[in-house]
Amino acid sequence: MTKLAVCPGSFDPVTLGHLDVFRAASAIFDAVRVVVVANPDKGPGLFPLDERADLVRRALAESGEDHIAVDVLEGGLLVDYCTAHGAVALVKGVRGARDVDYELPMAAVNRELSGIETVFLPPRPEHALVSSSLVRQLVGLGGDASAYVPAAVLTRLRR
Ligand code: PNS
Repeated sequence: MTKLAVCPGSFDPVTLGHLDVFRAASAIFDAVRVVVVANPDKGPGLFPLDERADLVRRALAESGEDHIAVDVLEGGLLVDYCTAHGAVALVKGVRGARDVDYELPMAAVNRELSGIETVFLPPRPEHALVSSSLVRQLVGLGGDASAYVPAAVLTRLRR
C-alpha cells in the first residue's frame, strides 16, 4: 500500500524552510501531498489560496521535486481530506518550543478525530528562523527576502 503523507499549512508564502520539510517528508513516505489551507486565525493573508498553491508548485518544479503534489483545501476538516485521500500521516516542521506548543493540541485533536498521526520534523539550522510572517514583514518594509524564499516567490513578492 502506498503510504501517503499530507503536509498542511497556510504557506503564505511558502519558504525555503517549508520546502525542506516537503523534501524530508518525501524521503520518508512513498508519496507526499502539500495541502494549502486557510487558517482563520491568520485572517485573509497576503495571497489567495490558489496563488499560494501555484507558488508551491513552481518552487517544487524549480527544485526538481515536482513529484510532490499540491492541492488546496477550501473548507472542512483537514483530517476529512486525509481520510478521503487515504493519507497515513500529517507532516509538519517544528522550529522550536513555540511551534511545538502550537502544534501539539492540533495533533492531538486530529488523532482523536480520525486516528491519523502527526509527524514533526526539525528544521535544518539554516532554516530554523525562517517564517512566512517574517518574510511578509521583511518584504513589506522593503527588505531582501532572497535568503528565505524560493526564486518563484521572490519574483512574485517583487511585483
Ligand atoms: O501553516 P499554519 O497556519 O500553521 O497551518 C495550520 C493549519 C492550516 C494546518 C490548521 O489551521 C488546519 O489544519 N486547518 C484546517 C481545519 C481543521 O482541520 N482544523 C482543525 C485542526 S485541529
